[in-house]
Amino acid sequence: MSEKDRLKWNRKYEEQSELLKSRAPCRLVEEFYSYAVGSTALDLASGAGRNTIFLAQKGFCVDAVDISWVALEALKGRVESKCVNIIEADLDDFTPPYGRYDLVVMTNFLDRSLMKRVADSLKPEALFIVETYMEHENNEKPDSNPNYLLKEGELKDFFGSSFEILEYREFWNDSDELYRMRKQGVVVRKRQS
Ligand SMILES: C[S@@+](CC[C@H](N)C(=O)[O-])C[C@H]1O[C@@H](n2cnc3c(N)ncnc32)[C@H](O)[C@@H]1O
Repeated sequence: MSEKDRLKWNRKYEEQSELLKSRAPCRLVEEFYSYAVGSTALDLASGAGRNTIFLAQKGFCVDAVDISWVALEALKGRVESKCVNIIEADLDDFTPPYGRYDLVVMTNFLDRSLMKRVADSLKPEALFIVETYMEHENNEKPDSNPNYLLKEGELKDFFGSSFEILEYREFWNDSDELYRMRKQGVVVRKRQS
């Protein structure tokens, strides 16, 4: 499966080079990054690094993880901070270091099985921001795999009592994306244990 993903994403980035262009960070990252109390960050499925670059500019040391070397090469060419660590890895079997991060972001990507590993990688009081696509009858993308779409309200109920929800919302994606799609986002803070 992972090799298939790697080929699929490398090909997609090679064929659609517009996906590698500089872009603004995701909405919830831009709005809530400053709630993090320290400066270590992890960008999961970073792609060409829209969130990584933004966070590095804001003073974070960022680990950017993605399966596609094509996307990571584009990120490498754009990074100015020495505090960005680029990691080519398959998130299916990637375990982030325990208790390391003040902020973890995962945007436009969904792997439910990764959530527990992410929870362990957060310091107490750290933030986890998730923003990605959800099911909706008016979604325009014809071939969306339902496994990669959130259910109505899913992120609101996903996190247990070890987390405080700072923000939950459902909204339409940015108008510069190819298809109009409904999104869901959550910002949670890990409680002191
Ligand atoms: C839609 S892009 C999102 C990129 C970026 N997070 C954003 O918000 O623009 C999805 C990313 O997930 C990466 N990806 C897909 N499957 C992966 C896996 N198993 N492990 C690591 N990265 C993966 C792809 O290479 C791609 O860069």
